[in-house]
Amino acid sequence: MTAPTEPAAVPAFGFRLIATDGMARRGEVTTAHGAIRTPAFMPVGTQATVKTMYPEQVRALGADILLGNTYHLMLRPTAERVDRLGGLHRFMNWPHPILTDSGGFQVMSLAKLRKLNEQAVTFQSHIDGSRHVLSPERSLEIQGLLGSDIQMQLDECVALPAERAEIERAMRLSLRWAERSKAAFFGKPGHGLFAIVQGGDDEALRVESARALTAIGFHGYAVGGLAVGEPQDVMLRILSATTPELPADRPRYLMGVGTPDDIVESVGRGIDMFDCVMPTRAGRHGQAFTRRGKVNLRNARHADDPRPIDEESTCPAARDYSRAYLHHLVKAEEALGAMLLTWINLSYYQDLMAGLRAAIEAGRFQDHKAAVKDGWA
Ligand code: GUN
Repeated sequence: MTAPTEPAAVPAFGFRLIATDGMARRGEVTTAHGAIRTPAFMPVGTQATVKTMYPEQVRALGADILLGNTYHLMLRPTAERVDRLGGLHRFMNWPHPILTDSGGFQVMSLAKLRKLNEQAVTFQSHIDGSRHVLSPERSLEIQGLLGSDIQMQLDECVALPAERAEIERAMRLSLRWAERSKAAFFGKPGHGLFAIVQGGDDEALRVESARALTAIGFHGYAVGGLAVGEPQDVMLRILSATTPELPADRPRYLMGVGTPDDIVESVGRGIDMFDCVMPTRAGRHGQAFTRRGKVNLRNARHADDPRPIDEESTCPAARDYSRAYLHHLVKAEEALGAMLLTWINLSYYQDLMAGLRAAIEAGRFQDHKAAVKDGWA
């Protein structure tokens, strides 16, 4: 008999496929904080904020999940403080799923005096120079304190082009760190751990990494180390070699990607989840993503243009403000310019994902992909 005081059950972490069309997949990830419709785009909320956006506004665009960063949050305000304040969801008023990256990638791009060995990566904070150690175990401890629904293993990502020996060394270290992460993961109900495939632009190393991680067994699998300097055709070739090696019944996440074209092409190669600073960062730099391609609002040709970005958009910022006004705000460096353009761009990305999901369910992914690309031409 069930005791009357038993708390409401938290859903187990899970993934189900709803439809497939070729390699493209329409699915749903379930977490402690709700469901994620896939293919999904995760807006980046590095410092516990999607820059310039209210959380309610991000949710209204159709985002089911945000990405947060271990590296930034461990330095400021610290994971322990976020934990004392009730966890990251409550801290930032986002009661929906959150995925956190593990920190290694950001250490390599942002921190000073980095030193990496078998045990951990040691670095100095870019904020105040303080010294920190991030091991696979400490990264998961931090992600647990934050309360992240999807936690990422600590890995090492090498920028391309790189020597094969260097790519192989980093891939093998990431594999050993994956094993340590699995052992250290404290699996609260509804929370999952994702491994990260590495191996640079070498197909054989990618296949080896994917098979070894699958043998260890994770809730999901990310493909890392792409969009790090290689041309798009190399990235797509690597994806085509990698996704067939990953278990069909687990979600697949392509880290740090990408342009709308990268996303459409990667969905066609079996990827379910994406994150990228592109829509938010480009918005702060005066660029708009639209059904007809990218528009640079800094350009003087918009100064007298009374037309909106897209009169048919569901996003008020794309529909109700003239290009001339957006141009003026960008030139004057007004906060509202960054706010409206970020809103337009995240709206575009979420609509792109909704369109992909509907097309896969209807079995018309290829036609939809062609139509979306025609719009940009
Ligand atoms: N973000 C983009 N690429 C990567 C990667 O290879 N590893 C991690 N941890 N984060 C990333």
